[in-house]
Parts: sequence; C-alpha cells; structure tokens
Amino acid sequence: MRRWPWIACGVSLFFCWTSCCAGYDGWQDGGPAYIYVKPTQKSPFHMPYDEGMKCADCHGWDGVDAYTSATMSLKKSAKGRLPQDEIKKAILETLKGSGDYREMYALATSFNDEPLATCAEFILDPETLTLYASSEKQTEKLFHIAANPRVSLVYVRQRSDMMYFTDPTGVQIRGRAVQLKDGDPGFDEAADLCLETAMNHMPEAMKQKMTREAMMANIRKNQLITKVIPERIVITSGDFIRRGLHRKQIWEPRAPR
Ligand code: HEC
Repeated sequence: MRRWPWIACGVSLFFCWTSCCAGYDGWQDGGPAYIYVKPTQKSPFHMPYDEGMKCADCHGWDGVDAYTSATMSLKKSAKGRLPQDEIKKAILETLKGSGDYREMYALATSFNDEPLATCAEFILDPETLTLYASSEKQTEKLFHIAANPRVSLVYVRQRSDMMYFTDPTGVQIRGRAVQLKDGDPGFDEAADLCLETAMNHMPEAMKQKMTREAMMANIRKNQLITKVIPERIVITSGDFIRRGLHRKQIWEPRAPR
C-alpha cells in the first residue's frame, strides 16, 4: 500500500513531462494545425503571386522558420515583389526621421526566454542599414543583450486618423546586436553619430549647459553603444497595397539585388 503514493507521483510527473515537451516536439511537423490557414478559398484582399503556383506552395510547413505560412512565403512569388534596391529605398524613406535617420523604435530582447520590449532611439546607417543607439549602462535591455545578442526592432508610424487597415507603415528588423564600450573598435565613430544626431534635436538651453566635449566624455564613461546588424528587414506599407504589390516587402543583406 505504501507504494501507491510513489506510483501516483511517478505517473503525474510523466504526464507533466510529456505535456511540457509536446509543444517542442510538435514543431518538427510545423506545430499545431490551428495555426494554419485552410487554403480552400482566398479573399479578394489576398496578395498577388505567380501564375501556376499552388495554394499549398505557401500554406504548408517547409521547416524554414516560423514565418512559413505568411511573410517569408512571399519570397516564393516574383509577382508582387519589389527588387531589393527599391525595398531598401522605401526603408530609407520611412526611417529617415528629420533627415538624420534618427527614429524611435521598440527593441525586443530576451533573457532566459523572458521577452522585453523597450523604446529606444536608433540611428540608421543608410549604406549598410546597420543601426546604432547609445544608452545608459546598467539598464535591463543591456543585460538581455549581453546574455543573448538575438534582437528584433520594430518601427511603427503612428497615425492620428487610425487608418491602419488601409494605410499602415511599419518596419520589422531582425538581427544580431553587438555592444560597444569605450575603447572598442568602432566605438568612436558610433558615439559621434549618436551624439551628433541627438544634438540635432536638443533645445538650445540644454546645449548651453554642457559642451559637446563634456557630453562625449559622459557617453564614454556612462553609456554603451548597441549596434544592430540586420539579417532581415520587412517593410509594410499602404503604398505597396495601392500599387498591387505584396503589402510586405523583405530586404536581406545577402539577397541577390
Ligand atoms: C506566394 C505565396 C502564397 C500563395 C501561392 C497563396 N497564398 Fe494565401 N496567403 C499568403 C500569405 C503571405 C498570407 C498572409 C497574408 C497576410 O499577411 O495578411 C495568405 C493568406 C491567406 C488567407 C487568409 C487571408 C485572405 O486573404 O483570405 C487565405 C484564406 C489564403 N491565403 C488562401 C489561399 C488560397 C486558397 C490559395 C490558392 C488559391 C493561396 N492562399 C495561395 C501567401 C500565399
């Protein structure tokens, strides 16, 4: 009789273990079926694709990534897709800010599988689409990045008329973050860029209080530069919808031009 509690405990541990792990195992076949669109009939708003393509070409699991059923499947269709240099131009136009490519983003990081989204201003290098931000040491996002350099950023153009359904503007970036501290190669150039663009938006009174040199000394001492090297940028735009294109266009640094 005394054995029963142990057996009960073992059985419940086994079920707990299988249910915890089932989610991960299932992904080999594409995860739960409820995530998928049933490709029987498409709506008049469906994005265009090449003639001869079958629904299953895009609406199945082919093990590429979690985007298989949506955004990344668009790469399979030439119809509706812009060339890489035009996508880059649209990205630059969207993220140019007041002309210095400084804009506000939400930065997503993760520590021990716990995600965190943080608002941060980044400056975009219009040549490479690398992003730079200078921020106070010791903040939560910096711990996250030190532990896990995989990051994602999103830019959303906010609208006062709320017409997001027909005219959205957004940029989603996925990439690798590098932390630069004073003395690291590339720190000086990046810190210069961050301070220069920050000063474009500083009130005169603030500039009076501190010289540029003192501000730079402060950055060197108290701040870290977060450099984000993009691996994929997806831009969504109402302009693409009106032109009959895929509403999302994908830019990748190594994609053929
Ligand atoms: C080139 C890839 C591609 C092909 C081919 C394709 N789809 Fe899609 N489909 C997509 C993507 C991407 C979305 C997600 C759209 C979004 O992000 O809003 C989608 C969304 C849908 C949706 C939900 C939204 C809507 O517009 O109705 C349905 C239903 C659908 N597809 C059915 C079909 C059917 C039926 C076919 C074949 C006749 C088909 N699709 C062929 C890529 C494709």
